[in-house]
Amino acid sequence: MAKQKYDYGMIGLGTMGRNLVFNINNQGFSVAGFDKDMSQVELLTKEAEYRTISANHQLNEFVNSLKLPRVIMLMVPAGEIVDEVIHELLPLLAKNDLLIDCGNSHFTDTNARYDQLAKSAIHFMGVGISGGESGARHGPSIMPGGSKGDYERIAPMLKSISAKVQEEPCVTWLGPGSAGHYVKMVHNGIEYGLMQLISEAYHLLKKAGGKNNDELHAIFSKWNEGILQSYLLEITADIFIQKDELTSNRLIDMILDRAHQNGTGGWTSQDAMCLQVPIPVIDCAVSVRDLSANKDTRRAVQQQLNDPKLKMHAPEFKLNAPESKFSVKTNELTQQLEQALYFSMIITYAQGMALLYAASKNYKYDLKLERIAGIWRGGCIIRSGLLDDIRSAFSNQQDMANLLMDNELSKKLITAQNGMRKVIQSGVEAGIPIPAMMNSLAYFDSYRCGWLPANLVQAQRDYFGAHTYERTDEDGKFHTHWSQRKT
Ligand code: 6PG
Repeated sequence: MAKQKYDYGMIGLGTMGRNLVFNINNQGFSVAGFDKDMSQVELLTKEAEYRTISANHQLNEFVNSLKLPRVIMLMVPAGEIVDEVIHELLPLLAKNDLLIDCGNSHFTDTNARYDQLAKSAIHFMGVGISGGESGARHGPSIMPGGSKGDYERIAPMLKSISAKVQEEPCVTWLGPGSAGHYVKMVHNGIEYGLMQLISEAYHLLKKAGGKNNDELHAIFSKWNEGILQSYLLEITADIFIQKDELTSNRLIDMILDRAHQNGTGGWTSQDAMCLQVPIPVIDCAVSVRDLSANKDTRRAVQQQLNDPKLKMHAPEFKLNAPESKFSVKTNELTQQLEQALYFSMIITYAQGMALLYAASKNYKYDLKLERIAGIWRGGCIIRSGLLDDIRSAFSNQQDMANLLMDNELSKKLITAQNGMRKVIQSGVEAGIPIPAMMNSLAYFDSYRCGWLPANLVQAQRDYFGAHTYERTDEDGKFHTHWSQRKT
């Protein structure tokens, strides 16, 4: 009897890969899995039970067990490992086989692999997948890039495994080449920004507002039922009531205040800098993670800045109490913070979308921002009620360089700015760092102001470097011999 041939192959049977295998299989497809690590192969074999799932650690056996033309998904760590897997696979593949990189690969790597594989008639797609372990198993948001024809080959499977919002699958073809991985990168940049903003609200409520974990749970749960409804708020509320298994404390109080990263947030900032698109909330979130990670320097600087001997230089500040309690009532603070978070979350999405707008033109992705907002409404880490408004904004105006141009969203920002301004005043007064919130207000104000002091920067550049400047009353470039025109 001929051996079973499988519809799809999955390379990399870690948490994400294994859960995707079950998700695909639950939709009626047979799946063969491969991993070099025997323990992952054994785990899948054990969990697969009666299902049409196989697990292998012999690459040629795995490849031969797939239906032709093959469709092989890669769920391995981004970077060199992806190239190594492709290198080992290539001699075993046949014309028209399709490789799909589902990891968080850098978009420039995806472009290079796309070109490399095109030479050998192997099709390649870069597909971003968001939603963590539970999303992979029960419905992620999927961001595919590559050729439209290749997408059509796998669209029925991707649609069936994706999250659904009002029956709409959270997947759509995004654009050619690395478009999918680019969109996933920006998704993660927004994720960094939102997480930082939520952490700042936590800092204020805990240290200045004096809220305990039960109160924090109640506040975040309530917020999650209103304008701030989002996956990240939901899990934040849950986090505060998780008990620690090793002590009698809450787990959150036992976790070190040092955050790591796999790099996608930093990549977003790097590319935004290259394209000259300002995304300061995301940049700030990346910097603050870096600042938090260096605990040794933080300890040394903290000691220095709180040195009692230095106190006499600023008797008006309580150097030994870096975080003082608020002078405002905490229920007032909670209401202001809800507005502030809403305000700064809109700004963070706006910055991510502005980057996608510019990248789309620069890299010729022809992205449809309305569709991207649509597929982010379910399954992914940044899903939130706000994405309905963002989708509507782009459906009203397809070609919108910045969400702040939208009537409805700008109205919401104008209304919420009061809370934002009050929270920033309180944060400054209490000595609590809220840099992402501050950045979001500065971004709003920079666009709101009709005039920015960039004329002075132009004058300085021209003064010291003869870089020229533009005038308000005449076109062209001008240079002045500044030192000769003093007084
Ligand atoms: C997702 C997440 C996922 C992963 C991040 C974490 O969309 O499911 O974004 O991709 O959790 O890569 O990123 P950091 O390790 O950089 O925080």
